[in-house]
Amino acid sequence: MRIVTKAEEMQWVCRELRSGGAVLGLVPTMGALHEGHLSLVRRARGECSVVTASIFVNPLQFGPSEDFAKYPRTFAEDCAALEREGVGLVFAPDAAEMYPADAVTTISVPGVGDRLDGASRPGHFSGVATVVAKLLHIVGPARAYFGQKDAAQLAVLRRMVRDLNFDVKLVGCPIVRDADGLAMSSRNTYLSVTERQQALALRRSLLAMEQMISSGERDSNALIARGRQVLGAEPGVRLDYLAVVDADTLLPVEAAKTGRLVAIAAWVGSTRLIDNFVVR
Ligand code: PAJ
Repeated sequence: MRIVTKAEEMQWVCRELRSGGAVLGLVPTMGALHEGHLSLVRRARGECSVVTASIFVNPLQFGPSEDFAKYPRTFAEDCAALEREGVGLVFAPDAAEMYPADAVTTISVPGVGDRLDGASRPGHFSGVATVVAKLLHIVGPARAYFGQKDAAQLAVLRRMVRDLNFDVKLVGCPIVRDADGLAMSSRNTYLSVTERQQALALRRSLLAMEQMISSGERDSNALIARGRQVLGAEPGVRLDYLAVVDADTLLPVEAAKTGRLVAIAAWVGSTRLIDNFVVR
C-alpha cells in the first residue's frame, strides 16, 4: 500500500493508474477508522480495481468552538486496517498541503447545505464540499463512497456533483452499528461509560418513530412528538434536531412517505451525535 502526502504526486499517481485502465474508487475519511469506514472500503473493493482512501482531518469543516484539536488521530492503526482491506493507495496530506496560505476558493451549497447539520454548524457543509471537491479533483475516481450515517452530507455532495458536473458516481452505503444499535462514529470514543448508555436514546427514539410508521402513522408532527418524548426520557441527552425531510432537499415534509429521511442530532454531554433512517 502506497501512502502519498502531496497533492501533485497523488494526482500524478492516479492519472497513471487511470491511463493503465484502472477503475479508481475513493473513500474519503478523517481517520480514526472503524467498521463503518471499512464497510465503504469493502464496497469499493467489490466495484473498483484500485481503492484509494484519504485520511485528512479537514479544519475547514470544523467550527471555531468544535472538536478539531481533540478529534481522534490514529494514523498508524488506520493504515494497517486499510492495508488489510486491500486499499492500494492512501492520500494523507497535512493542512498546509490542502490549504496553502493564499488559497481562497471554496464551494458552498446554499439551501441544502444550510439545513439539518448545516443549520446547527454554520459553514460545516461548505468545508465538507470544498475538501471533497479537492479530493475528487486530485484522485479522479470513477466512484466515491459515502455513508448514509451522514445523510445530510451525502445530500449536499450529490447536489454539488450534479450542479458542477463532477464526472463521478457517488455511492451511498448503509449505516453500520454496534451490537447495541449505536451508529458507529469516530466521536463515540469521547463518550464515558454512562454517556455511551445514554447515547442509545437516539436509536430508541428513531426506532419508536419507525414502529409508528409501520403501524400506519405518517404525520410528521405526530412522529416527531413521539421521538422527542422517547429522547426526553433520557435526561443526559439534549436534542439538537429531529426532523422528517425530503432526502434530496432536506426540507421538512408533512408526511413520512417512502424515501423520506428521518434524522436526529443530539448532544450527549459535550459530544454531538447523529443518526437517521429512510422510510421504507
Ligand atoms: P468521517 O466522519 O471520517 O466519515 C468518513 C465516511 O465514513 C463518511 O462517508 C461517513 O458517512 C462514513 N461513515 C462514518 N460512520 C459510518 C457508519 N457508522 N456507517 C456507515 N458509514 C459511516 O464524513 C467525513 O469523515 C468527512 O466529512 C469527509 C467526507 C471525509 C470530508 O472531510
